[in-house]
Amino acid sequence: MLQGAIFRDEMKYKYSLVQARAYSQLGIAGTTYEPGFKELSRLGYFQGKTVLDFGTGTGRTARLLKLLGAKRVLAVDRDEQMLARVPSDEGIEPHLLTESHIPFPDASVDVAVSAHAFVELRTREEMQQAANEIARMLVPAGMFLLITTNPAAIGCDYKSYKYENIDELKSGDSITCLIKTEPSFTIIDTYWTLDVYQQVLQSAGFTRIQMTFPLADDGEGWLDEQKIAPDVVFVGIKTS
Ligand SMILES: C[S@@+](CC[C@H](N)C(=O)[O-])C[C@H]1O[C@@H](n2cnc3c(N)ncnc32)[C@H](O)[C@@H]1O
Repeated sequence: MLQGAIFRDEMKYKYSLVQARAYSQLGIAGTTYEPGFKELSRLGYFQGKTVLDFGTGTGRTARLLKLLGAKRVLAVDRDEQMLARVPSDEGIEPHLLTESHIPFPDASVDVAVSAHAFVELRTREEMQQAANEIARMLVPAGMFLLITTNPAAIGCDYKSYKYENIDELKSGDSITCLIKTEPSFTIIDTYWTLDVYQQVLQSAGFTRIQMTFPLADDGEGWLDEQKIAPDVVFVGIKTS
């Protein structure tokens, strides 16, 4: 059994009832999250697949995966308030993680996705353990798509959230993000460089790692989304 690192109760961010409710109203279209999710849709093939959604939150990603044709989405999260809002749509299976091990067998999913969750992992050890667990659950040659904060987005003001500007950040530093929901709330994320994400994915056994930085389309109402991509999207293939 893997020990402890994913769950360090004293370090993990807990969503309140109000925050979880606000988060569940966010949506995708027209939000700062749209370019990253569009890229996920472009890069991934989900038709008929069993997909792991690590850090599903209120199920926004899980619902998108179903719309993209996934047969089964294993929607895992450690936060009860968030998970309670995952829709009970057919094929979406919410699971509360209460320990560091994800309670599914090896090679039990075709594709794995994690959106906006790795930035909540506080230590590199914790991130490595999450990536190892995701790799363990994937079939050989299975694809992992990771949407996470573009390190260059720190200090940017976006439509849906704003990162406080902090100079000379290093990996593992805390970053404050104002989520512009109604009511708004602040969350403490963790800054990770692109190198750290890449090294963690490599150590977990992913190869052919690629990253893209999707910008918002030429629509109106964007703030910094057309200049600096809010997210980086990594794709890695599990070594056979
Ligand atoms: C910002 S939300 C994103 C939710 C969803 N993927 C989306 O994009 O709407 C991040 C979620 O990741 C979850 N999370 C963070 N660390 C986790 C961990 N170690 N294990 C499982 N879930 C985690 C949080 O509880 C939270 O619900």
